Amino acid sequence: MSGAREQFGSRLGFILAAAGSAVGIGNLVGFPVGAAKNGGGAFLVMYAIFVFAICLPVMMAEMAVGRKAKKDPLGAYSALTDNSAKWKIAGWLSIITPFMIAVFYLVITVWIFGYLYGAVTGDLALLAEPDTFGTFINSPIIFVYMAVVLGIVYLILQGGVKEGIEKAAKLLMPALFVMLVLLVIFVLTQDNAMAGVYFYLVPDFSKITASVVNGALSQAFFSLSLGMGIMITYGSYIDRSADIPGSAKLVALTDTAVAFTAGLMILPAIFSFNPNTNPAELSESSIGMIFSFLPQIFLALQTSIGFVGASVVASLFFLLVFFAAITSLVSIFEVPVAALMDEKDYSRRKSLVVLGALLVLFAMFCALSFGFVPFFTEFTSYAGATKSFFQVVYDVFYDTILPLNGFLICIFVMYRWKRHNFNEALEEGSPDYKGSWVEKYVNISVSVFIPIILLGIFINTVALIYF
Ligand code: PHE
Repeated sequence: MSGAREQFGSRLGFILAAAGSAVGIGNLVGFPVGAAKNGGGAFLVMYAIFVFAICLPVMMAEMAVGRKAKKDPLGAYSALTDNSAKWKIAGWLSIITPFMIAVFYLVITVWIFGYLYGAVTGDLALLAEPDTFGTFINSPIIFVYMAVVLGIVYLILQGGVKEGIEKAAKLLMPALFVMLVLLVIFVLTQDNAMAGVYFYLVPDFSKITASVVNGALSQAFFSLSLGMGIMITYGSYIDRSADIPGSAKLVALTDTAVAFTAGLMILPAIFSFNPNTNPAELSESSIGMIFSFLPQIFLALQTSIGFVGASVVASLFFLLVFFAAITSLVSIFEVPVAALMDEKDYSRRKSLVVLGALLVLFAMFCALSFGFVPFFTEFTSYAGATKSFFQVVYDVFYDTILPLNGFLICIFVMYRWKRHNFNEALEEGSPDYKGSWVEKYVNISVSVFIPIILLGIFINTVALIYF
């Protein structure tokens, strides 16, 4: 594209946009349930250590690469290596991965929108019925909601970096914080809420097994939007004077604080709904939690706070999750959009339209994966089970490739781009970073143990999922 590269207008705008990407469905529902089931306080401490000791350095590496190259991930890997063909593969992975994650994330966001609509129109009884979810995801109305969600994403991204992404984040993120705090206050004042808080926070170290450790790290990595090219792309929209280590730290803090606070909403709500909740039976997935478990709680609220009260609480909840999902969706879709603009000189509009059409196509395949069309429902099989198209996209791109991309960026900054360039890039805009213990730690971790850990997770996942 001709002209100067687009930029975020302020440091706060950049941090809110990156935090908007990081704060998503994973924080609001996945994290609290994971923490409650896997050792409470013990899980929280471990998760926090992973965020700051392992994920934060990777986030700094991604942002530094983006800012140095001033390009989308594909262009960045090429620009910093004089067009190395080998590193192009890493570049391609960092734009195909976000595109495919956007595909399934779009489908989930569409479901959330459907439930938001149901809550706002007072349909709690319907939402709480056991068959509703299965029927809903297989009904043609999905495509109407998909058009609405895509329309919103289009409007935001068409505005560009400053007038679109940044403005949306400045509006949606504060609204999200306020809704979260309101819901937490409401939930904590319900009977028996403290049992949930207790359950969430009291550490149980006996629950910490190897697979819990692995799960916590993967959750932290996904939650910070790493391995998806997002932080490379957003990093390409900040200038030399921006403080990357400081900003990355704030993004990680915000993301973790929201996840932690969400636990103070979800678990007390569950325990006050049913004081005899057996934590082992808490829903396995965030999806089950959002679309079947919580609607029952909202319906039950009608007896204590009335029809309108319960609808307001339910609507606030779904709006909260919807806002979190939209800012994440925007960030992940911006990656391939930026790539087409940078690599093919497309205008923003053309890039959005071309990729939007592809996104719709793939999202339809996903949406038709739940019984609608046998070809997509029984797409393939591995590890002795039949897998739908949706499941394959999820397994391959979310579960498998993310840690691989994280591994590649670490190896890249340290051994190809080289440590001194990486350090210099981070020192720009952050003079205190030079010679600090953080710099020393980042150097040791990114060159040695973080890539080893991420490669280990990648190999372990491949062995676990496909064989
Ligand atoms: N960090 C997001 C979450 O916690 C994950 C995500 C980011 C998903 C961007 C898609 C796009 O849900």
